[in-house]
Amino acid sequence: MGRRGGVFFGADAEALARGDPEVAEALGQELGRVRGRLQLIASENFASPAVLAALGSVIGGKYAEGYPGARFHAGCEVADRVERLAVERGKELFGAEHVNVQPYSGAVANLAAFAALLRPGDTVLAMELSHGGHLTHGSRSNFSGRWFDVVGYGVRRDTETIDYDEVRDLALRHRPDLIICGAASYPRTIDYAVFRGIADEVGAWLLADVAHEIGLVAGGAVPSPVPYADVVTFTTHKSLRGPRGGAIVCTPEVAGRVDRAVYPFVQGGPLMNVIAAKAVAFGEALRPEFRGYAADVVANAKVLTGTLAEEGLRPVTGGTDTHMALVDVRDAGTTGLAAETACAQAGMVLNRATVPYDPEPPRVASGLRLGTSCVTTQGMGVPEMKEIASLVARAVRDPGAITSVAERVARLTAGHPAYPPG
Ligand SMILES: Cc1ncc(COP(=O)(O)O)c(C=O)c1O
Repeated sequence: MGRRGGVFFGADAEALARGDPEVAEALGQELGRVRGRLQLIASENFASPAVLAALGSVIGGKYAEGYPGARFHAGCEVADRVERLAVERGKELFGAEHVNVQPYSGAVANLAAFAALLRPGDTVLAMELSHGGHLTHGSRSNFSGRWFDVVGYGVRRDTETIDYDEVRDLALRHRPDLIICGAASYPRTIDYAVFRGIADEVGAWLLADVAHEIGLVAGGAVPSPVPYADVVTFTTHKSLRGPRGGAIVCTPEVAGRVDRAVYPFVQGGPLMNVIAAKAVAFGEALRPEFRGYAADVVANAKVLTGTLAEEGLRPVTGGTDTHMALVDVRDAGTTGLAAETACAQAGMVLNRATVPYDPEPPRVASGLRLGTSCVTTQGMGVPEMKEIASLVARAVRDPGAITSVAERVARLTAGHPAYPPG
């Protein structure tokens, strides 16, 4: 704890308990919350102890504005080594020519991508938030919708999948400077080649935001946007199972613009402990076992979605290709908000989500979004997915069943603890 071979290291839970019992107690409660419930939020995962150790290391205190070999602070030789490790591993993992590991988060990576490619007032074509897009893709409450002229594309009413003909028509009509593909709540793979073709036809940049599925890309379980997009943004903490943070992959053509957009345009000094943890996570994802993990995450999501469908909760788009199960709860006579609350009472942590053409406002919503990244990290497989689906369906349909569902949830989590025991 906080020592490596008897030598001071950094992260030390006992030192925290001695120095600040109140915060130590709160963090202990969080570990208990995570271990005691089923974590089904699609954007979360459990980073390894090695990632957590890197996050808690003393390099977090180092100021290193700039990039390796060209810093504005003295004493950056170790920071340079750590950042180069992260960048080289990222290049290998994603088959990329340029990687920037400094973005503080996925939202900041997107802000930097906009800054690299556009000027305020430029036109952007991106997926509607209400159809699965993300706030940073043009919501009026975000910089993207406030400072840019955003045109939204949606999904078809019948298939609930992206209407590539509509995307092309809108691109030809509005001549966007940037087209964004990628979403926060869309369970299907995206045809990046088609998006590339449309972007080329209208002379637009193509940004792929794969914040959610980047771990599946790394593990070869879904197609990669890297050969098609000018810029790829992602988070490192979702399916990739690293620390909270963002990163950008791009072509050599825009590398200088992307780097200058991240620093000094959008950010100051990089979080070097997070970059160290990203290096660790990329290293883990390069191991052959990670391919198995990514395949299991998708296989689990397919079983979860299929069983939820058998239980009468309709999967949006009819299924999933990713880590995400997105279901419409209207046939169960309830709303996303009520279903989320019932599941929470039974110890299942998941999110309500809007479904395409949702008649409810987002704070109520008609859907649930579940992800299999955490439960797969815990070692759960097909039998557990079937059980989880039936527990979700029971909790959603029958308030009287909450106690018995909670008991079964407790058995599942006890059998597959999150994080190593102790
Ligand atoms: C598609 C997409 N882009 C960007 C983000 C933003 O990531 P962060 O929360 O790290 O800022 C998210 C987060 O959920 C996302 O789903």
